[in-house]
This record gives sequence, structure tokens and C-alpha cells, in this order.
Amino acid sequence: MKSFLETVQNYDYVKFTLFLEEVFFKSDRLVRQYLYLELKHGSSKLVEHFLHRFSEEEMNRFRSEMVKQKELERDEFWKGEERMLEIIKNMPTLVKEALATNKQNMENLLQNREMLKSLEPYYYSDQTLGKLKPPAFKEIPERGEIIDLPEPSTAVIQQENIYKLISERTTLRDFKTDELSLEELSWLLWATQGVRKYIPEEKKIFRTVPSGGDRHPFETYLAVNRITGLNPGLYRFLSREHRLLFLKAEPDLVEILTDIGRGQPYVGNCAVCFIWSAIPQRTEWRYANQAKKNILIEAGHVGQNLYLATEAAGCGTCGIAAYDQKKVDELLELDGVDEFVIYLAPVGR
Ligand SMILES: Cc1cc2nc3c(=O)[nH]c(=O)nc-3n(C[C@H](O)[C@H](O)[C@H](O)COP(=O)(O)O)c2cc1C
Repeated sequence: MKSFLETVQNYDYVKFTLFLEEVFFKSDRLVRQYLYLELKHGSSKLVEHFLHRFSEEEMNRFRSEMVKQKELERDEFWKGEERMLEIIKNMPTLVKEALATNKQNMENLLQNREMLKSLEPYYYSDQTLGKLKPPAFKEIPERGEIIDLPEPSTAVIQQENIYKLISERTTLRDFKTDELSLEELSWLLWATQGVRKYIPEEKKIFRTVPSGGDRHPFETYLAVNRITGLNPGLYRFLSREHRLLFLKAEPDLVEILTDIGRGQPYVGNCAVCFIWSAIPQRTEWRYANQAKKNILIEAGHVGQNLYLATEAAGCGTCGIAAYDQKKVDELLELDGVDEFVIYLAPVGR
């Protein structure tokens, strides 16, 4: 095992990065196993690369677990070694693939830049052609279990000073195991997708966040771990009604979310994870090819409101763009074409 660690520690920059990426993206469990190996062998060089992912509490737990080293050696916990040796064996192929993909990426990047630009305002969209406006809200199933939320209220706000909120806003990844209250959740949902005004006959909505042509392409899903009064599981926010629709209980939600977050533990161990999907057609109806640019900009507005609203309520969040697209769409039973996840944000105290 020592020689395994030596091999990795002697890797050059490219190989070392590829090794870490492989370990990270395979699973959180593998990261922990690797970290554990290092601690076991008194090596700390690589541990430092993982430190930001784990709380002090977790690091102490790893250390104290080392005392039980002998027992653990017989445990299946060590099966991760095999996978890591595989990565080492596969390193020449990984390097070759990385070089080829990098070259391909450079070509794609130029194409991608076009997406960032604004188009001439002749969209010839469905709106131009007089086609029906898509629904502003997703349907509520007839037999769905609906949960009332308290009215959004300033009672949960601890910091009102906008200057302080903006200057002290920071990403939070190290969550306590505290529950959040339903009142706090209600505030965060309102701040991110709350409906200020709705004109049904025009299918026109105004929310607490801006949206080009008031198209509002997002739906909010919640993966709830610790909200007082809510059973853990998956929910959809009914923004017009300011209520929740219970979707399903999901055992092992912490592990599932961590895996979806490509091993980032805070995606799983938060009190609640906000998961925003996009229904592109709502925006495409008006903006056609320009829709993609608008949708991404607007996701940023939603995310920033969550950052500020959590900060105001004495909790915090971390925007997450590094997630497994297929797994999260499958979890929420989204088709990945007309609706798919575009942004995640775990929240906790
Ligand atoms: C669009 C976006 C995607 C992000 N994705 C991740 C992510 O996948 N994992 C993560 O740990 N942090 C993620 N972050 C958080 C950034 O790393 C963080 O904002 C940055 O380090 C600056 O820190 P600050 O927010 O405290 O100023 C993301 C932030 C944004 C805005």
C-alpha cells in the first residue's frame, strides 16, 4: 500500500490531477477511502487537497477511526483499494484521453462562445407566428399530497442591512446538523421563485426575480433532509399557491445527493437541497435561439437571491454546477428534453 501512495505522490501535475478527478468523480466513498489510506500511513500531502470538502468534525472522525484500524482492515471498507489500483493501471490511457479531449474542447469552446452573444432581435419565434403560449406553471396532479407553507415573513430575518448582506455573502459548505424551520424554508422559496403577481388570462407572472419577457422558465424541487415538520424526501414547490407538493420519500437521500454532486459531501448533508429545473419551451416560445442565454442568466438571478436570503436568515448555501445530469433528472423523473435540472444549491445552517 505504501508503494501505491508513493506512486501517486510521485505523479507529475497532469497525472496527479487526473488521479484526483477519477477518485472524486467515481464516488464520495472512494474519496473517503483514499483520505483514510493517507491518514493511516501518516501522509498528509494529498489530504490537503481534500480538506475543503470535509468539516473539522469529519476529519476528527477519520482520525479516531484510525484507532480501530485493525478491525477496519477486514471490513469491506478497503475494497476501494482495488478501484484505485485500477486507476493507476489505467493512467497511460487517461493521459492520452485527456490530451485528445483537451484538443477537441478548444474547438468546442469557440462554438460555445457564440451562445454567450446576443442575437439580432428577429427571432421568428413561436410567439411571432402566433402559436399558443406555453403554460406558466407545471400541472398539479389531482391526487397529489399538498403541504401548506407558512406565509413568507420577515420574522426569520436576522440581518436586514443590504450593505452587510452583500459584503458578507459567502459560499457555505460546512453545514451543521440543525434543522431549518418551515418558516425559513418558506422565506427562501419566496425569495427565489415567489410570485408577486399573476394575471391568469394573459398567463403572465411576476416573481421576486426578474425574467426576460416574464417567461420564468424554472421549477423548484426540494430534496429535504432536515426541515422541521416535513418528512425527508422530494418535493416540488407550487409557486402560485405557495405550497409544496410531496413527490416521494427517498431512503438514502444523503448518499444519493452526494453521488449526484459527484462526491461533494455538502450536496448531500445539507438541511435541504434546492434543485432548479428549466422548462426551456417557456422561454423559447418568445426568444427562440436566444432562449438559452436568457435561461442561464436568469438561473444566476435565482441563485443570487438564495445566497442573499440564506445570509439574511443566518444560514448559507453553495451554488452547484458540478453535478451528474442524468442521475438528478432520473431522481426527479424529468425527461431531460422538455425539462431538466440546471442548477443545485444545498442549504443549511
Ligand atoms: C454557477 C456556479 C457554480 C458553482 N458550482 C460549484 C460546485 O459545483 N461546487 C462547489 O463547491 N462550489 C461551486 N460554486 C461556488 C463557488 O466555488 C464559489 O462561489 C466561489 O468559490 C467563490 O466563493 P464565494 O461564493 O464565497 O465568494 C459555484 C458557484 C456558482 C456561481
